[in-house]
Amino acid sequence: MSVDPQISRMTAPGIIARKGGEPIVCLTSYHSHTAALVDPFCDLLLVGDSLGMVMYGMQSTIGVTLEQMKLHGAAVVRGSKKSLVVVDMPFGTFEESPQVAYRNASYLMRETGCGAIKLEGGAPMGETIRFLTDRGIPVVAHIGLMPQQLNTLGGFKSQGRKEGDRERLINDAKAVQESGAFAVVLEGILEPIAAEITQILDIPTIGIGASSQCDGQILVMEDMLGLNPWVPKFVKKFGALGDHIARAAEEYAKEVKSRTFPAEEHVYRAKKK
Ligand code: KIV
Repeated sequence: MSVDPQISRMTAPGIIARKGGEPIVCLTSYHSHTAALVDPFCDLLLVGDSLGMVMYGMQSTIGVTLEQMKLHGAAVVRGSKKSLVVVDMPFGTFEESPQVAYRNASYLMRETGCGAIKLEGGAPMGETIRFLTDRGIPVVAHIGLMPQQLNTLGGFKSQGRKEGDRERLINDAKAVQESGAFAVVLEGILEPIAAEITQILDIPTIGIGASSQCDGQILVMEDMLGLNPWVPKFVKKFGALGDHIARAAEEYAKEVKSRTFPAEEHVYRAKKK
């Protein structure tokens, strides 16, 4: 079998090898062009089902479909070269049985070319994670605040304050590791618990709103770029793209209206930067 020597992507074992070492840099990505821009600086790009809310204006991730994940997953694989691309399993595509999960996860891997999938759920998803990993599908688990369980959680609430939370979260973390997950996203988990889980596990923890104690961090790209007017409290904005885009559109509108817009001939050759 021949492989392209130009393309050497991060792999699931490569991510495991970073446990306790250099922090793992992860961002969500939904498109080819933004994937290409951030890929050189990342280890892992997650095509998160957050795209339903961020890109499609949905109220939650519940309505996201497998077809949306397929199209955006394939775009991110095409746009990137070195990061491991992980595609989220949307709500209703993996919970029913390990067999249903396998069918949908293998479809996503085949159609997108991604290197792994992510699914939400701790101990109750153990059997499914084992079924997938035994059959060649690398899995990132996701515990703590699980947006797909919004309706049973009663909102986007951080985890770890209630009695029994610590034990449940540690149990979930151990269960997904024992089932073969190669990394676990800890979302909205109080710092002492996130730190304890990171200490206990042999696989890397990737935090989002779960303190800097994790082995890596992930943010929604549009949040950290300043494209969303509302972002969770823990998110640092590294850019102000929302303002930048609005200003550019305003400038463009002015030029069009004043007929100063430089629309010369129909030549579609790319301009050199
Ligand atoms: O869907 C998503 O973007 C995620 C990350 C926030 C971890 O699950």
